[in-house]
Order: sequence, then structure tokens, then C-alpha cells
Amino acid sequence: MTDNHDTETTKPVLPATTTTSGGGEGSATATTGLLPPEHWTQLGRVAIYDEENEEDPGAQDNLSSTASISSSILKYRTIQGRTYHSEVGNASYWGTNDARHNNSLDILHHLFTLVLDGKLFLAPVKNPKKVLDVGTGTGIWAIDFADQYPDATVIGTDISPIQPSWVPSNVRFDIEDCTRDWSFADNDFDFVHIRYLSGCIPDWFEFFRQAYRVISPGGYLESYEGSPNVRSDDDTLPPDSAIAQWGPLFVNGGKLIGRSFSVVDEGLQAKAMAAAGFVDIQTRRIKVPSGPWPADPHQKEIGLFSQHAVESDVEGFILFFTNVQQWSREQVQVYITHLLRELHSKKHHVYHYESVVWGRKPQVDEVPAGISAAPEVA
Ligand SMILES: C[S@@+](CC[C@H](N)C(=O)[O-])C[C@H]1O[C@@H](n2cnc3c(N)ncnc32)[C@H](O)[C@@H]1O
Repeated sequence: MTDNHDTETTKPVLPATTTTSGGGEGSATATTGLLPPEHWTQLGRVAIYDEENEEDPGAQDNLSSTASISSSILKYRTIQGRTYHSEVGNASYWGTNDARHNNSLDILHHLFTLVLDGKLFLAPVKNPKKVLDVGTGTGIWAIDFADQYPDATVIGTDISPIQPSWVPSNVRFDIEDCTRDWSFADNDFDFVHIRYLSGCIPDWFEFFRQAYRVISPGGYLESYEGSPNVRSDDDTLPPDSAIAQWGPLFVNGGKLIGRSFSVVDEGLQAKAMAAAGFVDIQTRRIKVPSGPWPADPHQKEIGLFSQHAVESDVEGFILFFTNVQQWSREQVQVYITHLLRELHSKKHHVYHYESVVWGRKPQVDEVPAGISAAPEVA
């Protein structure tokens, strides 16, 4: 197995043409690095993946299995036939919440555990008794954690009721908007886990302050996020390729809705943890390949799952942001055909960074490192 933890910084690949938004078709804007959507229709569809934009038949299964949830939470919004979460608090989430996309989330869970060499987390958590998974998605991490730690009570929160009902007895799911005040008591959890919420959080500093409040002294927060910016070290990623455009599409879209996708690239996790008061903050920055190009078998497997997660539902990942950026249905579908063709071509030796950051809430009487204790006064 190859150690792929990498601290080297490589600049994201941006299109070479950087004109302003008034530039000709096919040029990228200087500020966003994003090609105008007409670029794709100008190129035309390529025959690789002829997916029609039908309503996901599997979405009905979710609805019936969560019949006890109040009907307002199930009134999903739709974009081009795909469903999104209903109005809950301040939440604005970019992913679809239908069966097709939930399948991608479960593939991503497998990918993330492969990246962590089979582990569910890296923080030195011992004998956890109460654990919170914020933005739990399909609840797959919470369920696996509950299975591994049968003595722990695990709570997963989300704005979409997409979690299964057959779960271990020590796990439960609550509908809660994590961008509002959390409903949990102070010092309630010995571990809070947060994964893959880039593009969902308006203020990471406030977010981790809330986590700090609910974690008991000595407990841990762990945050696992990925960068959408795709890179290559061997010039196999043309700047105007569909793969290279993935990052700017998300980064620019996140800016437009006030929810950053630059969490990893700006080191926000560690900064927000330190500002909240966490100590012993550790960061593991990991290069994650996409596609089966690495020679190392473990990295090749990671690359396969990374590609598979995207391929399984490209539309569910991008439709919200292409809609925000006013792409037409045709532009979206043509872009998808190019992306899939490039992914299948195996010519692009690409990767992105993922960052796992964890920190400990100090004990009440703990003296911060580097400061000597005051002598006791008799
Ligand atoms: C990309 S998924 C990640 C799911 C899960 N953490 C994982 O790693 O498998 C993001 C999840 O966050 C949820 N989410 C987005 N905004 C939220 C909010 N304001 N409050 C709670 N959950 C939110 C979405 O509904 C979605 O299920």
C-alpha cells in the first residue's frame, strides 16, 4: 500500500484562456475559471452515456419508508425531475435527495473508508458513549459506527429523511438544520463527526463553535472534507476539459449561494477548530486519485471508487449549480457526455485533495500548551 498523504501544494488546473465574462464562446472568465455553458453545446454531445433526465423511480421507495415523517419535510423541490430537500430552516443543500444520488453517497462512504485504510475516523476516541454525526446523509457512517461501538448511542442529523428505518438499536436520526442553533445540550457528546458538508455551511467558524458547545471536555470533533478542484501532476488534464471544469463549477456555484467549496483549499477546518477553542488539532491531507490510473493496487481501487461515485449520478451532483448558473438542460447533458467520455478514456491522471482534521475540547481546568501553570498561592 502506498502512503498517499501529501503536503505538497499543486495549483488547481484552470483554463488557460482567462478573459472576462464578455469573452468569446469557449473562453473562461478571469475570476471564476469557468467556461461559459455554450462551450459545451458548441462542442456537441459525444456518444458515451445517453442518460435521459427522467424522474428517479427509486425516489418513491424513500417516501414510503419514511411515512412517519411530517408531510412538509417530504414536500421536495424539484429541478428537471430530480428531487431536493424541502424548506427546513436556513438550509440550502445542492445535492439531490433521491435514490440514485443516495446510492452515490453510499459509494462515497466506501471510498472514504478506503482512503482511511478501513477506519471510520482518525481521532483518538476511546470508549465513546454518545456520538453525533451532523449532516448524516443516508446515515451509513452512523450505522457503521453504531455497529462497531454497540455501547455508544449514535445520533445522525440531516434536513432530508433519507435514512433507512432498519438500523441498529443504538442509532437514531433527527431532522435538524445544522446552520441554526443545535437542539442538543452543552457537553453532551464525546465525539462529533462531520463529513462532506462543503457547499452547505455559510459560516464554518459558527458551525464549529456549535460543535464545541455540545462536546464534553476531553471529547473530539472530526471533520472530513474534499476539494472539488481536480489536479494532475503530469499534464494529462487539458484546462478546457470537462474534468478540469468540475472544480470551478462548484467553487463558483458555492460563492453564488454563500456556501464555500474552498474549505480544504483554504484550510478552513483547522482554522475554525482553533478559533472555537479545540486543542491538539491534527490535519491529514490526502491525495485521492480518480480513475484506475495509479500503479499501486490500493490507490487504483480508490481511483475506481472515486470515479464510480461520480459516474453513478453526475447529474445529481451538478444540476443544482448548473441551474444556479443558468445552464440549459441541453448544456448540462452535453457537459455530462464529455465528462463521462473523459473519465472512461483513462487518459487523465487526475486527483484531488481530501482533508481530515480533528481536535480535542480541553478539560475545564486544562492549562493550554506553552503556558505554565501559575504557582499555587498558600
Ligand atoms: C454530501 S452529503 C454527506 C452525507 C454524509 N455526511 C456522508 O458523508 O455520507 C451532505 C448531507 O448534508 C445534509 N445537509 C445539507 N445541509 C444541511 C443542513 N443545513 N443541516 C443538516 N444537514 C444538511 C444533506 O441533506 C446531505 O444529506
